Amino acid sequence: NCIWYLPADTSAGALGADGLEAVFIAELDSGDKLIRSGSRGAFWLEPLVEAEHAGRRVGFGNVDCESLREVLRLGPDHWSSHPAYLGDIDELPWFQRQSRLTFARAGAGDPLCLDAYESRQGYVALRRALQLAPEEIVDEVTRSGLRGRGGAAFPAGVKWNTVLQAQAAQKYIACNADEGDSGTFADRLLMETDPYQLIEGMTIAGLAVGANTGYIYLRSEYPRTLHVMREAIGRAEQAGYLGQGIGGTDRCFVIELRVGAGAYICGEETAMLESLEGKRGMVRSKPPLPALEGLFGLPTVVNNVLTLASVTSVLADGADAYAAHGSGRSRGTLCLQLAGNVKRGGLLEVPFGMSLREVVMEFGGGTRSGRPVRAIQVGGPLGAYLAEAQWDTPLEYEAFAAVGAMLGHGGVVVFDDTVDMADQARFAMAFCAEESCGKCTPCRIGSTRGVEVIDKIIARDNPQQNLALLEDLCDTMEHGSLCAMGGLTPHPVRSALQHFPQDFSFGKSQDL
Ligand code: NAI
Ligand code: SF4
Repeated sequence: NCIWYLPADTSAGALGADGLEAVFIAELDSGDKLIRSGSRGAFWLEPLVEAEHAGRRVGFGNVDCESLREVLRLGPDHWSSHPAYLGDIDELPWFQRQSRLTFARAGAGDPLCLDAYESRQGYVALRRALQLAPEEIVDEVTRSGLRGRGGAAFPAGVKWNTVLQAQAAQKYIACNADEGDSGTFADRLLMETDPYQLIEGMTIAGLAVGANTGYIYLRSEYPRTLHVMREAIGRAEQAGYLGQGIGGTDRCFVIELRVGAGAYICGEETAMLESLEGKRGMVRSKPPLPALEGLFGLPTVVNNVLTLASVTSVLADGADAYAAHGSGRSRGTLCLQLAGNVKRGGLLEVPFGMSLREVVMEFGGGTRSGRPVRAIQVGGPLGAYLAEAQWDTPLEYEAFAAVGAMLGHGGVVVFDDTVDMADQARFAMAFCAEESCGKCTPCRIGSTRGVEVIDKIIARDNPQQNLALLEDLCDTMEHGSLCAMGGLTPHPVRSALQHFPQDFSFGKSQDL
């Protein structure tokens, strides 16, 4: 008898996995079983169907209805003769070269099955945290070197300590699941394939700082995630992992889900807090820091999904084991999302320190179009475009900052040699104009003027003068904007100008 696994998450569904369920229902042997699992993140192989039989778990890649029927009729002894057969799934080099901590359970089984979660180290971290004093939990997180995975890389332990030390009758945990960066999907994949890890991480954060309520701010574009998280929260409550008396103690922690309305700026922490309070998502001035005056004016830990999920590895295996991964001041593992024009796209979890070239060329296999890679944008729409001379930069926060780039939330978008970098620079300004909350002038007006100036440069209208104007504008936006939206938009613009000047008309056919 055989257990079959068919992923039920958004990405696998978009690639045709849902359509395969009907084939299973019609053709499955009576002794066999089908589990709707989650994707392992190897999107280039989706729909990836797996079969567990005689102590092995093997995979079949890019399966469609016809090839699934063929595989089901073949029987285990002849599986290996089918073109979709991949062999033992854990032995594929794409997985073997990764160091999966946060995504260790992704794809392993039914994401909503609590027994399966517990059988794979689930709730080990919470049980340990329940034995520790709040200061000891915070100390463990600080020693692990874990930094915020939403993009800013602020040390999680320092943030938690600020909230722990704040005097207030009520504190909150606010999980930022408004994953708005283009080319990113790690938060979604984590929540859809391993929702209890986030719930456990948030509960530990609550114990650490003295908060009994957590909110997950989820983007509306993730309807499947909403369904999974809602169901998982309900089951965790029923099992005594949420609510009054967690794990048989007198501690209490509850989680509420809130859905955004599609504004990129609501991923900025203070705009998210405004939105959670039921107001329009406008950025607040800092200080005060949300750690001291956050949700409803009370001390709040605002962390990204991956940061809170990573805390379970830190507590389960210990700070030293977590800090043993990585390099420099970037400790632990980095969850990269390989997207754009790339042959083998998906979720990679690797130790910090690997080069971008290794990620794009070795894991990614170069472009999907087969043309040469020309530019790689790292860190979302506000991240820099890196030219080939920079691809050996180690994937570390400081090393990237030193070359005028950032890792951000780990989005890596690949472009081939047909890309027009002037268009990409224009897109950055247009994106900012579209998504600006409008509170401050450099961003609200600057981005619109930025589009106009780049249009003039492209049209060769006084390019020299307009180039100087664009530089000046970037300077004003960078230094005069209230938040990272306006402050970081010059990144992609400047990097495109600096590394790909030939695309800005003057280098194309004739000189300025
Ligand atoms: P920031 O540098 O202002 O703050 C980082 C975090 O540390 C914040 O939560 C802040 O409140 C906290 N903090 C700072 N000093 C503190 C202290 N002494 N005690 C306690 N907490 C303290 O950065 P910001 O504006 O929050 O984030 C910008 C980043 O967001 C960018 O680098 C970008 O990569 C990222 N981003 C991520 C997106 C996504 O989809 N995940 C989308 C857009 C931007
Ligand atoms: Fe709003 Fe832009 Fe100013 Fe940020 S930089 S506060 S998004 S107007």
